[in-house]
Amino acid sequence: MSYLGKKVNTLKERPQYSSFLCYNTLMVKRALIYQIYPAAYGNLKFITSKIPDIAEHIGPDYIWLNPFFLSPWREGGYDVADYEVIDPRFGTMSDFKKLIEIAENHGIKILLDLVLNHTSDQHEWFQKSRYRDPWYTDYYVWLDKQVNWQSFFGGPAFKYDQIRGQYYLHLFHKSQPDLNFSNPRVVKEFQHIIKFWAKLGVAGFRVDSANVLAESKFVSGFLPRIPGFFNYFQTQNTVKILNKLLAGSQLFNLAEPVGGNFFSHRKFSELTDQAFDASFNVGILDAADTRLSDKSHLRPLNYKKWFKKLANWTPEPKLSFALESHDAPRAPSRFKADPKALAMLQFLLPSNFPCIYQGQEIGTENPKLGDSIEYYTGVQSRSIYRQLINEGKTNEHAMRIVKQVSRDNARQPLDWHAYASQSNDPQSILNFYHQLVQLWRSDPVLIHGKLKVKKITKSGVFDFERHYGAQIYKIHLDLKSKTKSTLKDSTGKTLLSMLD
Ligand code: GLC
Repeated sequence: MSYLGKKVNTLKERPQYSSFLCYNTLMVKRALIYQIYPAAYGNLKFITSKIPDIAEHIGPDYIWLNPFFLSPWREGGYDVADYEVIDPRFGTMSDFKKLIEIAENHGIKILLDLVLNHTSDQHEWFQKSRYRDPWYTDYYVWLDKQVNWQSFFGGPAFKYDQIRGQYYLHLFHKSQPDLNFSNPRVVKEFQHIIKFWAKLGVAGFRVDSANVLAESKFVSGFLPRIPGFFNYFQTQNTVKILNKLLAGSQLFNLAEPVGGNFFSHRKFSELTDQAFDASFNVGILDAADTRLSDKSHLRPLNYKKWFKKLANWTPEPKLSFALESHDAPRAPSRFKADPKALAMLQFLLPSNFPCIYQGQEIGTENPKLGDSIEYYTGVQSRSIYRQLINEGKTNEHAMRIVKQVSRDNARQPLDWHAYASQSNDPQSILNFYHQLVQLWRSDPVLIHGKLKVKKITKSGVFDFERHYGAQIYKIHLDLKSKTKSTLKDSTGKTLLSMLD
């Protein structure tokens, strides 16, 4: 097996990558992130047992772990009941210390998910706030009157609490009350939490819903994802809070702004330059014009529109370009595309902080979970189903949509049998990812090359070039084909093909 005329190491002889955020000679900041949703692995010990494989085949700089903190698990662990306690279902603190140690031995650093915007309603802070405990009374956003804001999961964003006799804000699920970050005590709590994990050797955080921390005014008319969305948030105050928590640290921090488009992404990324190294933007996952919560899914994907958006987004230097996450269906199913062609899309477009979601590297497809909503446990799946049924759609119609868009698709246990057999097959998807990662790390044209779009078609063909000095790479992608996508240099020599 070879690329660029160099022999590729056999699977067993692969080099370990540096664990540090790498700066190359032209000081381009880059890092490869690998995302793990712990519930799909079962527990921390099992994750630890898989780290050597991840290091060998992918070799990421960072593993980002979704929440595994104490939680009643109403919303996939994003409803945290104690930020400094590991939920017993995932193991113990000593399991976590072991995980960090093994990861470090393999040159990988660990990022945790920091859920700032809200806690679980089971968190002690919320329980005390409901009873107006003087210290905690202003920890959450309480109002005497609700306004007609809609939550991200559909339905009202305010809920009346009988005990306190007021409404609380929940931008997400009703079990996730929004914290009040204009209260300095709340900021202090998180300064403590960040220090707590940093002391244990955590290298940084993926900051959940980072752009909606501070609300500006509670007036009628708010709906997520409508133009003008950000008029309802105090961006300047959010930036101040984020800077207080994260700026000036040695941590690697990844933002997750929600509800954004390309321009809000760019603005937020500029404003939070001190706090964040990179930005994992949900907008890029939605860029295929198949919003994860509406009905457009039953229409065929418009590849032309999607490629245009990718060409626009991906040169952003701080963008963490992902095709999958725990919030999206599996990419080969969603885009009806070949997994190797998708891998080329992700690693050959400009991409300083690519993020691979667990199982993506073996071409995992959406699972067949069953025909009834009972098989789907996620809040998002259930709420889409409810909305569709309320609109008068049949069960069959609603389920067709749920199956395509559900987050549950990405949260299932991995097929370790497939993983093992691919690791021994030089032509496997897994091995293809390995080659692409090596190219992405070492090839100056892929590190620095400017993107030039040549041709995009409705049927999934994307031709583009990367220009660096006198060198030009020509990339032909055909997402529908198992064989046709190639990377060539300007002399026409093939540097990578899907048969490698
Ligand atoms: C983020 C998470 C998502 C969660 C939401 C609310 O967007 O990625 O899974 O539902 O925040 O915490």
